[in-house]
Amino acid sequence: MKLSTVVALSGLLAVSEAVPQQKLLQRQSDKKPNFLFVMTDDQDLQLNSTAYTPQILSRIKEKGTDFANHFVTTSLCCPSRVSLWTGRQAHNTNVTDVRPPWGGYPKFVAQGFNDDWFPVWFQNAGYNTYYTGKLMNAQSLSTYNKPFAKGFNGSDFLLDPHTYSYYNATYQRNHEPPKSYAGQHTTDVIADKSLGFLNDALESDRPFFLAVSPVAPHSNIEPGSMSSSDPTRMTEPIPLPRHQHLFQDVKLPRTPNFNPLNNTGASWVSKLALQNQSVVDAGDHFYRQRLRALQGVDELVDALITRLEESDEIDNTYIIFTSDNGFHIGQHRMPPGKTTGYEEDIRVPFFIRGPGIPEGQTVTSVSTHIDLVPTFFELAGVPLRDDFDGTPMPIKRKSAAVSHEHVTVEFWGSAVLEGDFAAIGVDGQTKLGNNTYKSARILGEGYNLYYSVWCNGDHELYDLTSDPYQTHNIYTPANTTTHLLGRPLHDVINRLDALLLVLQSCKGTTCIQPWKVIHPDESVQSLRDALTSQYDAFYQRQPKVSYEQCLDGYLISNEGPQVGLQYRDGLSWSAWV
Ligand SMILES: *[C@@H]1O[C@H](CO)[C@@H](O)[C@H](O)[C@H]1NC(C)=O
Ligand SMILES: *[C@@H]1O[C@H](CO)[C@@H](O)[C@H](O)[C@H]1NC(C)=O
Ligand SMILES: *[C@@H]1O[C@H](CO)[C@@H](O)[C@H](O)[C@H]1NC(C)=O
Ligand SMILES: *[C@@H]1O[C@H](CO)[C@@H](O)[C@H](O)[C@H]1NC(C)=O
Ligand SMILES: *[C@@H]1O[C@H](CO)[C@@H](O)[C@H](O)[C@H]1NC(C)=O
Ligand SMILES: *[C@@H]1O[C@H](CO)[C@@H](O)[C@H](O)[C@H]1NC(C)=O
Ligand SMILES: *[C@@H]1O[C@H](CO)[C@@H](O)[C@H](O)[C@H]1NC(C)=O
Ligand SMILES: *[C@@H]1O[C@H](CO)[C@@H](O)[C@H](O)[C@H]1NC(C)=O
Repeated sequence: MKLSTVVALSGLLAVSEAVPQQKLLQRQSDKKPNFLFVMTDDQDLQLNSTAYTPQILSRIKEKGTDFANHFVTTSLCCPSRVSLWTGRQAHNTNVTDVRPPWGGYPKFVAQGFNDDWFPVWFQNAGYNTYYTGKLMNAQSLSTYNKPFAKGFNGSDFLLDPHTYSYYNATYQRNHEPPKSYAGQHTTDVIADKSLGFLNDALESDRPFFLAVSPVAPHSNIEPGSMSSSDPTRMTEPIPLPRHQHLFQDVKLPRTPNFNPLNNTGASWVSKLALQNQSVVDAGDHFYRQRLRALQGVDELVDALITRLEESDEIDNTYIIFTSDNGFHIGQHRMPPGKTTGYEEDIRVPFFIRGPGIPEGQTVTSVSTHIDLVPTFFELAGVPLRDDFDGTPMPIKRKSAAVSHEHVTVEFWGSAVLEGDFAAIGVDGQTKLGNNTYKSARILGEGYNLYYSVWCNGDHELYDLTSDPYQTHNIYTPANTTTHLLGRPLHDVINRLDALLLVLQSCKGTTCIQPWKVIHPDESVQSLRDALTSQYDAFYQRQPKVSYEQCLDGYLISNEGPQVGLQYRDGLSWSAWV
């Protein structure tokens, strides 16, 4: 009796004056969140660059959550960006380089992704989408309209060969012809453009996704140095004049892997000579120029957030800050650059603030750039796709996130060295072949490892718990006396190799839960589980990850065994199904 009265009463209220108010409330809570995504180019995490950007720290990191173990899956702009915007590992995009035939914008188009990638999906989900800055390499004066990049309500892209000219950026807006900004600093140009798109976005009733991708702190490149006959000259980034005087006393962190007295690393890295003082000084200067160049980005972020605060959308907007890949200067004796699987190159900053995200928190679970699109889908309430190789980051309280302890790191092709002393590489080369490798970075309960297999047969294993700077390669499979994690070292290596065998060709859920491929009964879900001695003989028998030779691209025929053994019971092992 009482209950029905209440129902009737609320029903009565619902048809009277409560209607508009309730509708309004509902519309507010239904409105999907906006996204402001800022991604720098080649910004390191490990060299401490984020410590020098106070606005990014105070207005994003401290106002939100820091994902302290966030990685890229390929440490090179174009492959990393295509993986990010498709949610797939590079072996599933086959966009593995910055230019054709293996990569670049034309390869991205040829693979069919221009019709089937994040901006298209998000527009279909009701979003207005905007992008300004660098989208990907080889989107150029001659390729930008063959066809135009799809899925954006507003776009204004940097075009090659002028992408990295700090004082002669060329942009291409929507379907208009390219326009040169000779004499203007690239960061001033993108600041104008991104504020313009933010204003457009704020005028519409629809939610928005705005991506802003400045070139800083990438090296400066002048056109003419980009042809294949003339090796690319990548020189120090150019700060805005108002930042030139900063950080005169700052030096690169002198970590144990900085210009080490003994050689470290594998392949070409292990052949580098010790740097002399002039080269070290040049590295410190290069670093300062990067920090100075980042100041413009710091101001840009400040301006964008201030504009959001002036609107009524700040509390309904996720603000994300990250980089497309990391960077090294001097670690393992390397001249400036990226492309390796070492910590400096694969770790990037990832800060996110927004509705429901706790302030000042640090999350240590592992995440990667292929988790970003699944994360944006989840935050926007869009159902996840089956072809995602990643899984949402644990942000929402009721998240479909599958926690994972592995990162699959892949690379095909050459390492390109940057800066005035780029040619201190092996034999005076600035472009070094034999930089094709695959690796697994594992961060689990009680272990912190990096295992790599290179195209020339080199292997690396680092125990980052005792060796966080990766200076002692402990890969010695023939050594039967050494132990790791309480097990003979070779038994641990057998597990890591079997995991990498799955990861090298994984797709969708097998990238997210790789141990299930080897142990379909789900009795093994982590390296720890797999280390049980009952599986020793089984893992011993697994085919080993290898390459036929060093190639610059992804040809299955070159990639060694593709199928491993599956554990059914103690007696019968069969190939994966
Ligand atoms: C953005 O593009 C989508 C897809 O073409 C369209 O439905 C939507 O109306 C556009 N938004 C604006 C503000 O024009
Ligand atoms: C700037 O870029 C344009 C192409 O957009 C080019 O035509 C021009 O020569 C460049 N100017 C300089 C000074 O390099
Ligand atoms: C990073 O930079 C900050 C700010 O200058 C400094 O306090 C800190 O010691 C630096 N950390 C390293 C590892 O160099
Ligand atoms: C460098 O190599 C020598 C000779 O192998 C070894 O004795 C020394 O401990 C190594 N130094 C470091 C810092 O690893
Ligand atoms: C330091 O090394 C560089 C690169 O090998 C070389 O060009 C330079 O002459 C060396 N400087 C000194 C003072 O030895
Ligand atoms: C590259 O690796 C091949 C083996 O695949 C080897 O023969 C060659 O010497 C290596 N080149 C360099 C520059 O290390
Ligand atoms: C195995 O490794 C241990 C520890 O690094 C070392 O002391 C030992 O000499 C090695 N044994 C062989 C046979 O190389
Ligand atoms: C990747 O692309 C290259 C170049 O187009 C092609 O030769 C190769 O077969 C492709 N690899 C796979 C696995 O599809």
